[in-house]
Amino acid sequence: MKKIIVAIDGYSSSGKSTMARQLAREIGYLYVDSGAMYRAVTLYALRHGLASPEKGVDVEALVKALPEINVSFSLAADGTQHTMLNGEDVEREIRLMEVSDMVSPVSVIPEVRRRLTALQQSYGVDKGIVMDGRDIGTTVFPDAEMKVFVDASPEVRAQRRVDELKAKGEEVNYEEVLYNVCERDRIDTTRKESPLRKAEDALLLNNDEMTREEQMAWLLDNFKRIAGE
Ligand code: DC
Repeated sequence: MKKIIVAIDGYSSSGKSTMARQLAREIGYLYVDSGAMYRAVTLYALRHGLASPEKGVDVEALVKALPEINVSFSLAADGTQHTMLNGEDVEREIRLMEVSDMVSPVSVIPEVRRRLTALQQSYGVDKGIVMDGRDIGTTVFPDAEMKVFVDASPEVRAQRRVDELKAKGEEVNYEEVLYNVCERDRIDTTRKESPLRKAEDALLLNNDEMTREEQMAWLLDNFKRIAGE
């Protein structure tokens, strides 16, 4: 079987990261969560006063600080992949609501996208990679052999996010999360640079009414068909 690139794009909280991670494990591929990279840059901006909910993002200052921001991944002792910001494990912190609320305005900045896109492309030079995000099949790897676009209704995605955050012990309100999901959809799909959209040659997966097992079976069937050709 030849080594390929698997690009998985879709809306926030559509379950694509869980699915992509699980697929990578099953097929022995490297997994890269590109959203985590945008989240790490956002965390840096929040920590350094370059972004705040009240004032928004100081684009000029953040662009200037970009050379100081190093995002990477490391494998934790339990085998899970952790996002690192300038050598610090920020895997937990980048998932907090404060970061989720600011990540879309940070990810519209063309210089941020250019820097992270180049880093993402460098991970794929040897293929054998599953990457998930918003523009992987359209911009990062437009020639990826397998492209999947994951879709689910905003209500289903908001409920999944509430369950996820509650499981981590965070106090959350469904309406607030639903608003965050819709707001991110709006910014992600309407931004000028690399907006979220289905690549023409991407396979569509609507998982509103699919179990995790059904999604995995669907992904594996398609992977075997494409990589086995
Ligand atoms: O997948 P996620 O929800 O962790 O992504 C967080 C944000 O990062 C999302 O709102 C949009 C942005 N993002 C992006 O612009 N391009 C990507 N390839 C991945 C994420």
